[in-house]
Amino acid sequence: MSFDPIHLRGGGTSLLLISTPEGFPAYVHWGADLGALEADALAGYIALREPAVPTYGYDKTQWVPILPDALSGYSGRLALEGERAGNSHAVPRPAPRQWRATTRESAEGSSVELLGVDDVAGWQVTVTIGLTEHGVLHTRTVVRNVGPDALHLAAVRTVLPVGTAAVEALDLTGRWAHERVPQRHRINQALYERASRRGRPGHDSSLMLTVGSASFGFESGECWAVHVAWSGNHSTYVEQTPGGETHLGAGELLEPGEVVLEPGQEYTGPRVLAAYSGQGLNGVIAAMHSWLRAHEPTPPAARRIVLNTWEATYFDQRTERLVALAQRAAKLGIERFVLDDGWFRGRRSDNAGLGDWQIDTDVWPDGLSPLITAVREAGMDFGIWVEPEMVNPDSDLARRHPDWILGGGHDLPPLWRHQQVLNLQAPGAFEYLLECLDTLLAENDISFVKWDHNRDLTDPAHAGKPATHGQVLAFYRLLDELRQRHPGVEIESCASGGARIDAEVLTRTNRVWASDSIDPLERYRLQTWTSLVVPPEMLGSHVGSAIAHTSGRSSTIAYRAAAALLFHFGVECDINKLSEAEAEELAAWIALHKQVRKTRDRGRLVVGDHPDPALSITGLISEDQSEAWYVIATLDTPHAQPPRPVRLPGLAPDRSYRVSNRTPAHTQPRGDATHLWPPAGGLVATGRALSGAGVQLRATMPQCAEVLHVETI
Ligand code: DGJ
Repeated sequence: MSFDPIHLRGGGTSLLLISTPEGFPAYVHWGADLGALEADALAGYIALREPAVPTYGYDKTQWVPILPDALSGYSGRLALEGERAGNSHAVPRPAPRQWRATTRESAEGSSVELLGVDDVAGWQVTVTIGLTEHGVLHTRTVVRNVGPDALHLAAVRTVLPVGTAAVEALDLTGRWAHERVPQRHRINQALYERASRRGRPGHDSSLMLTVGSASFGFESGECWAVHVAWSGNHSTYVEQTPGGETHLGAGELLEPGEVVLEPGQEYTGPRVLAAYSGQGLNGVIAAMHSWLRAHEPTPPAARRIVLNTWEATYFDQRTERLVALAQRAAKLGIERFVLDDGWFRGRRSDNAGLGDWQIDTDVWPDGLSPLITAVREAGMDFGIWVEPEMVNPDSDLARRHPDWILGGGHDLPPLWRHQQVLNLQAPGAFEYLLECLDTLLAENDISFVKWDHNRDLTDPAHAGKPATHGQVLAFYRLLDELRQRHPGVEIESCASGGARIDAEVLTRTNRVWASDSIDPLERYRLQTWTSLVVPPEMLGSHVGSAIAHTSGRSSTIAYRAAAALLFHFGVECDINKLSEAEAEELAAWIALHKQVRKTRDRGRLVVGDHPDPALSITGLISEDQSEAWYVIATLDTPHAQPPRPVRLPGLAPDRSYRVSNRTPAHTQPRGDATHLWPPAGGLVATGRALSGAGVQLRATMPQCAEVLHVETI
């Protein structure tokens, strides 16, 4: 069956699909908007893009199908792989044909459902591909076993063609407290893959794999980016074949035997999200944020400023100490008090207790009520830390249920932070956790849950099969069930910082803990890269202690607070140790953040490119472009004195703006405001000038930050 060309458009992007003469769907174009093409023009465009017949190659034009398969002669990595138990079929590599297309319009934009069958191999495949009005390409593949015996799935991949301009690849890596480190290379004829096999995305997860034109940056260049919305094992890759095609690929990473479909059963792959931008990574950011915002579960009316107890008191949970902390927090303007790790039975250190999710009456003889009441009386709401999927061998739960510990059937996995993973698929384990968490939330006045996950899944198996896929689905079910029972509770996804950040977990949670490092120097960089996917209001960022606990580096309050200013702001240090002057300074930043966040929640986050890597430029522009906030920070000693002009991207070119410096003046390292630019009263310029020529800052010291406010006049 063939279908007419399908041309989806949105957010400056076009996606053009055809049915090839052989009757399978193929992408003709994913990239810049082609405009509204009439049938003739469309046919002309398709003819232009038709692959040539090579010498000493296939005799006919070979379009690459949307699921590149062996039968079409594709020499790169295939989209579908699997095998049948008992080898009952002679066809090991599926090549679905007889495709049917159904197009749909929804609030999300246009989409097309393509259903193809390979009768010989016994695979039925449904690929849904959509393009939102903001240019997010989203796809999902469902495989159904229509053969007579079990089908062992090996891979189900989304494969997207990118334009010839794509010559460089950019991905991210990292480690604990140092996530999202960018790495770039030239694309060669090769397969370059970033795989995550940790049972969670991981600190080293790429988050996004982007390819683009030479030296593409945040403000310029063409780029194509892909992300797997999945909290488990997954892979993203770029492959260039000698046939001249460059493709981005993405999908869940399946282990042998992990997904076995009996006749009639289905596998639903994770959603793959992709974005094209003709204006650098800022275009990708805008598209991805539009998606995440549209899929956030019940966005909170107000995102409260947090005081988190972790780096303030660690496991010292004496009520008087915490109440004193809460009282000072409220005075500073903080709105939420989050009790971190240490409140449950046996949890006096990270050696013991995980799994025993009952309040420790040795520490809390009257339960959590005295603290929660004090927090409420101080005008704040209350949040709590949990790590449901984990268990310490030293816990009543592990002693009662050693059979619930996730392992592979050999010895138990090596301990990691003294803990093991709980097998959520073990009979009774899921129900136990649900009941503990439900009771905690039902019996205490809790508005926010920080949901942690502090180790990888090592050699996970359940019922003799690899267990990551099932574990991730059970984690989602647990979140879903709790959200349904406690719809008002906000949830944060944390995994020793940023090891579980993806667009699927963010359809069930409201915020991510981007890193255990709250060293601002780390934060300026890693927040920029986490922002490729995560909108600023969902990215938690805290002001830590003067000496960062994870790096030992010192910084001023101004430098720390400016790093958190544009994101979901919080404080995580012992504020009772601050002098009156320091407390006053922090309160000034908190007050400033309350102004900034009015722009943040629907605003557009932009990053500025600058020739000097010592400068970090991040902006938030209101939806109507009438107002913007920029944080400009020096990460190192700038090369030039004064630094070369800083462009303020994202403003409306023809509007006039007043720029003023809103850095709380007394917080500057030199202790006065004389070096601030612009001076009191501000300066007026057009958006074109500010985003084009840029502004000439005065500050040149390393580890300084300034806040510029831009408003239309
Ligand atoms: C790791 C988290 O990322 C920290 O913020 C803190 O919650 C600790 N776990 C508590 O154990």
